[in-house]
Parts: sequence; structure tokens; C-alpha cells
Amino acid sequence: MYNDLEGKTAIITGGDSGIGAAIAERLGQEHMNVVINYHKNVDAANATKAVVEQNGGKAVIEQGDISDEDSANKLVQTAIDAFGGLDVFFNNAGMEKRCPTNEIPLEDWNRIVSVDLTGTFLGTKAALNYWLKNNKKGNIINTSSVHQQIPWPNFASYAASKGGVKLFTETTAMEYAKKNIRINQICPGAINTPINAKKFADPKTYAETVAMVPMGRIGKPEEVAAGAAWLASDQSSYVTGLSMYIDGGMVLYPSFQGGNG
Ligand code: BGC
Repeated sequence: MYNDLEGKTAIITGGDSGIGAAIAERLGQEHMNVVINYHKNVDAANATKAVVEQNGGKAVIEQGDISDEDSANKLVQTAIDAFGGLDVFFNNAGMEKRCPTNEIPLEDWNRIVSVDLTGTFLGTKAALNYWLKNNKKGNIINTSSVHQQIPWPNFASYAASKGGVKLFTETTAMEYAKKNIRINQICPGAINTPINAKKFADPKTYAETVAMVPMGRIGKPEEVAAGAAWLASDQSSYVTGLSMYIDGGMVLYPSFQGGNG
């Protein structure tokens, strides 16, 4: 546990599912106040809220589409109304869709970019303006991906978005470093979450994915949340602009693992 997090307030987008829910639950263990944003699944958001509270934190849920600027601003207002302020903003909501690039409808491309990349911008903008206006220190943590670095055929919309998130994070980290605002990103690899449920249900795809992980296993959402908690806490006080890969080594060119070539 990180004692400095007790009583602090975080917002997490896409906090009803997968890595977002695991981070929210971990923040509960840190006795934080959490605003859980969800898009469609109110039951899942309530379930996450219940775990945050069981873990010793406080939580409210809020519906919103993070690709919409009003939704992002409303999240910050909710944190102020419910908990008196904001300390950490997690831009976590994301989506992906397999489709060859020559076939992907413009509408699908736009939707993925607007959630994964523009959503990160809008959350960041809302949080920055709160901290700057109130002259407070701030902390932003973005959920990027190993695919900010590793090309991913049939997922160009996602890889392009995450590549964008990478430089967005690094640029904003530099832009606001002197304002006492730290901005970092987590880059998960293959993690056992609903986004992967269909893929991992197929034994062949599961085995192929595991083979791309030097540690030889799929990651757990809690293992990502552990990194998120460290970035949220003052224990990482000298860290900004970091890409924290939590991927069992996936980004390390696994095909070289045998030592040949
Ligand atoms: C994607 C997963 C994928 C993993 C490794 C993540 O960013 O969301 O679907 O399994 O990267 O390829």
C-alpha cells in the first residue's frame, strides 16, 4: 500500500471493465475516492463500485462517452462535488476491432480513434484545466499498449491510436512538467480481460499469444493495477513521460528468445 494515496481522489474512464476495473479496485485498497466512468454497462460499474467500497475506498459511478468533451468535463465536476477535488486522472477507456485496413469502414476507424486517442486528449484537457486553475499538483496516467511500439496487422486503427497516445503522453509530460503535473503511461501486453475474451477462448489463438510472451503466460489485470498504483503515488514523484510496459516481456522481440538468428 502507498500511504500517501489515502483519501485522495481519482477518476478512471472505462472503470467498469478489465484493466480499468482492476485499477479502480486497487485504488479502493489504497483507500482512495474513485469516480468510475462507464459507457454502457451500469451493472458492471456498480459491481466495481461495490468492490472499491469493500476494499476500503469510496466510489461513485458516472455514465459518459469519453470521446465527448462535455462528458470529460462532467467527470471532473463530479469528483469535485462528491469528493472535494481531483488528484489523479486515469485515461483508460479503450476499444479495438479486428479488420483489414483496406476494409475498415471510416465510421469504425473514427470511433476507435475518437475513444482511444481523442478520449485521452479530452480527459487530459479537463484534468489539466482543473489543476491549472486551482494551482494544484496533478497526475495523469494513460492506458496505452505494447502496440504503441509493436505494429499490429488488422488492428491499424488501434495501433495508430496507441502510437498517438505515446507521443501525446510524452509531449504533455514535457509541456506541464514545470506545473507540478506528472503524466505517464502504462503499456499492457496480453492481459486476461474482456477485450481478449473471444480471442483467448480459441485455444490456437491463446497458444499463439502466449508464445509471444517471453515469460510464457498471459498477464492478470491486478498486475497492471499494481503499476498504476505506483504511478499514482508519490513513490514515483520523479517520474514523468514514462512508458511502463507491463507485458511479461512482449515488447522485447520474443522471436529472438531462443538465441538464434
Ligand atoms: C490489446 C490486446 C492484445 C495485446 C497484445 C493489447 O493492447 O488490447 O487485445 O492481446 O495488446 O497484443
